[in-house]
Amino acid sequence: MNLHIPNRFHVTTVVGLQYGDEGKGKIVQGLASSGLYNISARFNGGPNAGHTIYYKDKHKVVTHVIPTGVIAGIPINFIGPGCVVDPVLLKKEIEELMALGINHKTIYLSELVHLITPYDRKIDAEMNKAIGTTGRGIGPTYAHKTHRIGINIALCLEKGSEELVSEYFFKLADVYRQDWISVSPKDHEEWIDSLDWILENINIAKKNFFFSDGEAHGLLRGDPIPLVLAEGAQAIMLDNTYGTYPFVTSSNCLPSAVYSGLGLPGNAKLEKVIGVFKAYNTRVGEGPFSTEVLDGVAEPIRIAGCEFGSTTKRPRRIGWIDLAELRYAVELSGATELYMTKADVLSPRVVDEVRVCTSLNSGGRPRSWKTFEPFVTTGVKKPMHINGSLHQFIVFLEEQLGQHIPKVSLGVLADDLVSTRAESVR
Ligand code: IMP
Ligand code: MG
Repeated sequence: MNLHIPNRFHVTTVVGLQYGDEGKGKIVQGLASSGLYNISARFNGGPNAGHTIYYKDKHKVVTHVIPTGVIAGIPINFIGPGCVVDPVLLKKEIEELMALGINHKTIYLSELVHLITPYDRKIDAEMNKAIGTTGRGIGPTYAHKTHRIGINIALCLEKGSEELVSEYFFKLADVYRQDWISVSPKDHEEWIDSLDWILENINIAKKNFFFSDGEAHGLLRGDPIPLVLAEGAQAIMLDNTYGTYPFVTSSNCLPSAVYSGLGLPGNAKLEKVIGVFKAYNTRVGEGPFSTEVLDGVAEPIRIAGCEFGSTTKRPRRIGWIDLAELRYAVELSGATELYMTKADVLSPRVVDEVRVCTSLNSGGRPRSWKTFEPFVTTGVKKPMHINGSLHQFIVFLEEQLGQHIPKVSLGVLADDLVSTRAESVR
């Protein structure tokens, strides 16, 4: 008998270090296109996420739950058990990809994902106004999963979705006792039809997907080592436990969530943790934001950085890097490397100076700052081009955060990701 289960998984995870929208989608797209990975996966969150990427450098695509690897042609794109999925939105997302000629047959949806229903969306909209959620039903769906009244795909396949969703409605009516818990027959039907479409058109992955006798190994036949690129959604400061609770999302956003969120064995190797942060900071929704800019400096940054929610279109709140907070996220994530994005936004056309908050007062507002000249980034394509205040900024952050920043993003296209040192050109 072979008692040894070999440790064969190698995992890279990409997580946001601020409040989401750090530009993870673009970073993941670059990694997915590198040819280094054969599995791309989402392990947390759902359609609250919005990752903006450019397909073939021209078509703007916003993915919500589909792993970015689909677009880069990775052979297995797994939506893991840690995610929640709304069949209506997932169907629309897949149809958009199909319209661009992208192969959706590489998507594997775990039978353990919990399903967001129109009821969950309604509960989110009615009860979570103070948090400023995306209104996608994320919190209620995770809550009902934990409350053991939720619906997952495995249960739908076993019992039938029509019957389950009616049962779910009665349970919710009992729990909430609110007369607004109802949905129109049209929404109900659309949900059932979309789920049926997904069950017919998308591969459903069993809970043993990554086991030695599971489907993933079979699919990787000629390429036996699973090299997983795990794409985090939301960010450390929105983590349900370690973020600015209660102004957080409802899933775990830490790199360690890849284990439970994908069903990976505990001895899988989390080799690389790439922490992504913007050269400034944004937040969408309510909650504390120490460095928030409340004067006229915010609007030019919002416009230059297109800082409007990719899921909800809400204008994002604008602020600067809070060094202590970023250090907290770097430590907690265990980031092995840091990628800084959107440095090009802080150009002399947009700002008079770039700020980093170096300490807060007892009221949680900035007490001291370090300032830099705006960044001139036109024509910066190689490490040797990075000089002046951008170079000073990178060196300062590396010293303060105790971690390297091998790459900096200076635009929306894949080509705009520049290595900061000759030795990190890969
Ligand atoms: P929920 O995840 O929709 O429940 O929203 C909870 C909080 O997380 C709100 O402040 C949202 O604006 C924020 N949030 C959720 N997903 C994202 C995201 O992908 N980017 C940025 N903020 C997000
Ligand atoms: Mg986003």
